[in-house]
Amino acid sequence: MSRPESGALVLITGGAGFVATNVADRLLRDGWRVRLLDNLSRPGVEGNVAWLKAEHGEAVELVVADVRDAEAVRAAVAGTSRVFHFAAQVAVTTSLADPVLDFEVNARGTLNLLEAVRKMPDRPSLLFTSTNKVYGHFEDLRLRVRDRRYEPENPEVASCGISERRPLDFHSPYGCSKGAAEQYVLDYARTFGLPATVFRMSCIYGPHQFGTEDQGWVAHFVIQALRGRPLTLYGDGRQVRDVLFVEDLVDAMLRAHDAIAETSGHAYNIGGGPSSTISLLELIDVIGELMGRRPSFHLESWRPADQRYYVSDTARFMAATGWSPQVPVAEGIERLAAWLTESGTAASAELVGSGVAL
Ligand SMILES: NC(=O)c1ccc[n+]([C@@H]2O[C@H](COP(=O)([O-])OP(=O)(O)OC[C@H]3O[C@@H](n4cnc5c(N)ncnc54)[C@H](O)[C@@H]3O)[C@@H](O)[C@H]2O)c1
Repeated sequence: MSRPESGALVLITGGAGFVATNVADRLLRDGWRVRLLDNLSRPGVEGNVAWLKAEHGEAVELVVADVRDAEAVRAAVAGTSRVFHFAAQVAVTTSLADPVLDFEVNARGTLNLLEAVRKMPDRPSLLFTSTNKVYGHFEDLRLRVRDRRYEPENPEVASCGISERRPLDFHSPYGCSKGAAEQYVLDYARTFGLPATVFRMSCIYGPHQFGTEDQGWVAHFVIQALRGRPLTLYGDGRQVRDVLFVEDLVDAMLRAHDAIAETSGHAYNIGGGPSSTISLLELIDVIGELMGRRPSFHLESWRPADQRYYVSDTARFMAATGWSPQVPVAEGIERLAAWLTESGTAASAELVGSGVAL
């Protein structure tokens, strides 16, 4: 990312979370000041803030506030030149249990932020994190089983993944609230000229992720394996995702801001792409090789909104910015396991759960 002018300030909403901590660490090392806005609702994330403060001291500011509070959001945006909007209700499962909360945080919270930015004299550039769930369930995508995974029959989808040309088809309250939010972001870029871009993200994994059964399945698998606990897989375990190590995501995010004149008004599919795909069963094998023993598991019925296959076609973003992921899956999993062990996260009592949702 281009070097900041002296004292330049970035706002990260959801700033205590997994992706935010990795983005903040990189920005702080690059010389930015960082303001984190978070309501600390996700268990364990206070530890991320403590770690950032220990590493970077007073260059980190924490605002404990909720994105549903428009006044607090307006105050937090003041004086910033870049905004990363990550604060969210992040789990499909929670959105099914409480769709109104999910809407208020994801859709209304995003609108609060957009309004705050729109009213600023010098508008900061904005990056919003959406999800592959906006493409729905892919009922038309014909799949076949090969060994321990699904693969698409269509050779173009098999080699390139799902592109942004795919029609939107919001599934689950979470898909709807994130989809509504990203459409507002794109429209504020179009209608009000906000410099704003959207990432439709697949599965991200890496250090500072407190994966649970509801969100963060790669980290959840590794945590359970480190604890010697069995896993529950919903479905048949052959579901395939492209996974992206968070360091590569951070690189993409900084490039999106740097190239905002080009990326503004666009939504990009972001993930590990066709070269970084893995099924649940294959991840269990990778963990088994890494730890010298294969985690045990049992199968339960499919959950709503679980896609059997999702792999991002990232060609559009790569062409716009020159980005490409660098960390191979096995290396990324090893680095995640090392962090979970060294930080004591795997031993933490807060992250109990044995199932997984993608
Ligand atoms: N991690 C992934 O694989 C993935 C995939 C697709 C999209 N995303 C999106 O990326 C963003 C970051 O994800 P993450 O994995 O870092 O999640 P995370 O849960 O680690 O971080 C989200 C943070 O937002 C905070 N938060 C929740 N509700 C809030 C509210 N009302 N006001 C203020 N703060 C609030 C939480 O305390 C948490 O610290 C989210 O918007 C998520 O939907 C993540």
